[in-house]
Amino acid sequence: MSNRFSQLITLTTVLVLSCSLNAQTKGNDTEGHAWWQHAVFYEIYPRSFVDSNNDGTGDLSGITSKLDYLHELGVDAIWISPFFPSPQVDFGYDVSDYESIDPVYGTMRDFDRLVSEGKKRGIRVILDFVVNHTSDQHKWFLDSKSSRKATHRDWFIWRDGKGPSQPPNNWISIFGGSAWKLAPKTNQYYYHAFYAEQPDLNWRNPAVVKAMGDVNRFWYKRGVAGFRLDAVDRMFEDEKLRDSQTLEGTNKFGDPLLDQTYTAKLPEMHDALRGLRKVADESDAVLIGETWTKNIEELKEYYGPHNDELQMPMNFMFTKVDKLSPPEFRNQINAVESAGGWPVYVISNHDIDRSYNRYGDGKNNDAIAKVLAGLYLTLRGTAIMYYGEEIGMENNNPTRKEDVKDPIGRTGWPNEIGRDGERTPMQWTDGTNAGFSIATPWLPVPASHATHNVASEAKDSNSVLQFYKQLLAMRHTNHALLDGSYVSLNETDPNVMMYVRKYKDEAVLVAINMSGIEQRVSVDLSSSGFAGAKTNGLLSSPISLKDAIVAGDGIVLPPFGVYIANVTK
Ligand code: NOJ
Repeated sequence: MSNRFSQLITLTTVLVLSCSLNAQTKGNDTEGHAWWQHAVFYEIYPRSFVDSNNDGTGDLSGITSKLDYLHELGVDAIWISPFFPSPQVDFGYDVSDYESIDPVYGTMRDFDRLVSEGKKRGIRVILDFVVNHTSDQHKWFLDSKSSRKATHRDWFIWRDGKGPSQPPNNWISIFGGSAWKLAPKTNQYYYHAFYAEQPDLNWRNPAVVKAMGDVNRFWYKRGVAGFRLDAVDRMFEDEKLRDSQTLEGTNKFGDPLLDQTYTAKLPEMHDALRGLRKVADESDAVLIGETWTKNIEELKEYYGPHNDELQMPMNFMFTKVDKLSPPEFRNQINAVESAGGWPVYVISNHDIDRSYNRYGDGKNNDAIAKVLAGLYLTLRGTAIMYYGEEIGMENNNPTRKEDVKDPIGRTGWPNEIGRDGERTPMQWTDGTNAGFSIATPWLPVPASHATHNVASEAKDSNSVLQFYKQLLAMRHTNHALLDGSYVSLNETDPNVMMYVRKYKDEAVLVAINMSGIEQRVSVDLSSSGFAGAKTNGLLSSPISLKDAIVAGDGIVLPPFGVYIANVTK
């Protein structure tokens, strides 16, 4: 961004923009924030974004062709799910070569072009780093399974069975069945936390640590700005391979539920993360974590005691608040605020139902999509969006087992229908295949593309897309939204979320009616040091609410209304 605009703008504008330019070029702004703390991240599932060569599957050149769209939307960094060579058993999360591109997605040239075109628009590229496992077709594993004496034997977790046809212990794969597979040639079992085609790497082996660090360096040299670390909590497992305690109940595949003490979040993981962070620091890069946690204490640990592990462990707790509940959201936000690390908010991704489905009531879904955006994009912290969220894309779940592409949806049907529904093609137009491809897309396009697509919503001032655009533009320039503290108001209100973002003598008020009933709320700004201040609407849903007067006994918010205003003394 800096190069393209710096020649065109006047000195005054340069001064005004100096904060964000610093964030792009030098790493830190005047508040000491690094570039990623003010950036808006956007997850792209590459199979489903844009298909440039018309084979029904999205690709890297497709993404490049939409960089202008992303720039105008207000995206600063794209995280692209894996596009490395892969047998595609888990659609790329089974990597057979970490340093190359799967031909389905294009070439290294296409990748370099994506990075350089991104740079011109101030969009950084973040890759997905599958740290826990490789594909069973990776050359490391092919060598490893070839002989007990192979160079790479100890790069994976091999053990003898407990007895004839008995795996080493009772561990269960996250994707169903035993987590052990017998390899007949050497008559030992290997461990796989996910599919059998995804053997777990042995991070206790220094050669693995070195090789994986080098993978990162390879991509940093090509201009990558960071990684999202896949399944970090699974990197280590109990060295003694003790049986896990059996809990009550079964998983979606019918396996017994097991306690995770020996298979997840082992303390050794933190040494490994510190190591990867050192490598990232060599290139001023950022590490994002796929960090599913039960509570804030667990999340806190991922930052590291000296902020020397992940800069951005994703807080998935919003994805578990499955109803529009101000008290629930408040609790989560207060917990994150008290944790000390930089908050990272996520409401959807390629593994969970889209937020549009999780929160929508079927009648007010667009208004509710704006409610969610109004919330997580005005909080202190970094937001990671999921492609299509900005146009109100919804799940398109398979209704028959034979249509399912995601293997867990076939083994777990009908309890587990898989993740196809949230991975459907991006909806660019209301035309054929939603403008994603002229070939038959790898997954069917939802009927909702007729109304929810980029082209139509770009023309509609009332659309979800326009709301996101305005919100993101504001988030990039408003000091209170960039750097302000979070002050919660009306803490006991069961229907309306209200808070102030406060920076020096500037503030923004956010009031969100999470109910389907009109709400009158009093607005007392004295606790935030703005007693008697006036508000000046910046953005709202519905649009007319922007001009609402906050006075006397407060403000009236229509059902699912969002009011965002500047507070002036
Ligand atoms: C988490 C990824 O997000 C998911 O899509 C994948 O199946 C598993 N990790 C295994 O890599």
